[in-house]
Amino acid sequence: MKIFTAQQIRECDQYTIEHEPISSIQLMERAAEAFVYWISENCNNHRNFAIFCGPGNNGGDGFAIARMLCLKGFDVDVFVDSKAKFSDDANVNFKELKGISEVVIKSFKDVDQYRFDSRTIIIDALFGTGLSRELKGDYKELIDHLNTKSNIKISVDIPSGLFTDSISEEKVNVFKADYTLSFQFWKKSFLHPETGIYTGKVIVLDIDLSEEYISDTETSDFVIDDKIVERIFKPRNEFSHKGTYGKVTIAGGSYGKIGAAVLATKSALKMGTGLTFSLAPKCGYEILQTSCPEAMFIEGGENHVNQFDIDETSVVGIGPGLGQNPETEKSLLQFLKKYSKPLILDADALNIISKDKKGLELIPKRSIITPHPKEFERLFGVTKDSFDRAEWARKKAHELQIYIILKDHHTQIITPDGNVFYNITGNAGLAKGGSGDVLTGILSSLLAQGYSEEDAAVFGVWFHGKAAEFAAEKHSKEAMLPTDVINEFGNVFEEL
Ligand code: ACO
Repeated sequence: MKIFTAQQIRECDQYTIEHEPISSIQLMERAAEAFVYWISENCNNHRNFAIFCGPGNNGGDGFAIARMLCLKGFDVDVFVDSKAKFSDDANVNFKELKGISEVVIKSFKDVDQYRFDSRTIIIDALFGTGLSRELKGDYKELIDHLNTKSNIKISVDIPSGLFTDSISEEKVNVFKADYTLSFQFWKKSFLHPETGIYTGKVIVLDIDLSEEYISDTETSDFVIDDKIVERIFKPRNEFSHKGTYGKVTIAGGSYGKIGAAVLATKSALKMGTGLTFSLAPKCGYEILQTSCPEAMFIEGGENHVNQFDIDETSVVGIGPGLGQNPETEKSLLQFLKKYSKPLILDADALNIISKDKKGLELIPKRSIITPHPKEFERLFGVTKDSFDRAEWARKKAHELQIYIILKDHHTQIITPDGNVFYNITGNAGLAKGGSGDVLTGILSSLLAQGYSEEDAAVFGVWFHGKAAEFAAEKHSKEAMLPTDVINEFGNVFEEL
């Protein structure tokens, strides 16, 4: 799914209005209907709504939502800025609302005295994608006040105070929603940690904006959705043999960190690789052979890896539990000097590269690297915030012609040609040591099975998150382990 900027969303609205054709007030009606449909399907236990409407078309959506909820028999109180000059469409819906005697219209000023029943749902229709400056004065105070309430809070399109595609320079007040029912598109600010904390669960409602505009308009930001996943996934061919599914060598492990090599190796096996090798130090021999009997062991040293004897017919994933022994560092850099095929680099492999002045130049073109924010900083320097980091990663991926998987709550896959794919599967249960090792196994396996680097990165990250969702259902986010994630691969394949 494409991610558009606020400006493109405005153009898309306008294009739909002109080419469908549909009037803007009818489009507003369609958006409100989609919103109210979701509410009536999902909020059966709630009868009361307090709806806060701003001066623009987001407020207009709010007035239409209030009317529809009221006509469905819900109790609705609407709050407005009594001094506001409404946009034309908002004004039409405001006048219509005033004609319904059951709706109570109040001023923002009345909110202090208003008694919020614990089951009242607060709807934020103050500002949408038209927010053009930070909130000040009455709006800021109102949002502060609403954020103190423990009621369920739902934002229309985007939490008020949040910019669509950037981060505010100052610490500002943003409505803290439990749900954001957003129209047609994910917005970039929903996907970054500093701004995404305000949205709660995001539900994207289809309001039939112009398909023509959407397909013809270029963007370099995408959300990995079902369509992308379906396009990439290749089901196993019945007429196949182990040679069809490639060879993987996971190089890693050191004394005390053999578990990481086990996780990556198991993950590569479970992902369907034809032949899997584990290149690890001798101290890990028994552990690896016992935990992963399907994998073959290659001895790479005594207590840490100091030889990377890997033939080019294997796809290599280097890093899990590798450690940073000076011998390991030296032999990894030497290996990279003569190895030219794309490979996967994670964890200590990245830390070793970041210590060497010319380390980045040694990464073979089209390789996939998987840094978390701290590893990214070590490799490429400090950035201001996650928006800045994504832009910097875009520049670096292009310069080095590599794929960067920037691990975060919504992990980003940055391609050499400057596209960013945001992942929306997964959960906080993945925030544990070992999760990255599982991802390295998945990525190595997909490359070995013939997926392109881009498809392996996009699909692999999605798959990892999906397996984590199954694991959390069974074990909870707290108790689930990376091993549980691997054990759910089968369920993800079944669902595909
Ligand atoms: N403090 C006070 N006022 C502010 C602030 C601020 N910090 N920031 C912006 N404003 C004002 C703006 O000046 C603007 O008013 P103006 O037009 O008089 O300049 C107003 O708030 C904009 O507010 P929004 O409601 O956020 O923006 P807009 O009117 O563009 O509506 C929209 C956004 C279209 C509702 C979008 O969020 C949405 O939901 N889209 C889905 C489709 C839809 O419902 N479309 C509606 C009909 S089609 C159409 O509008 C073209």
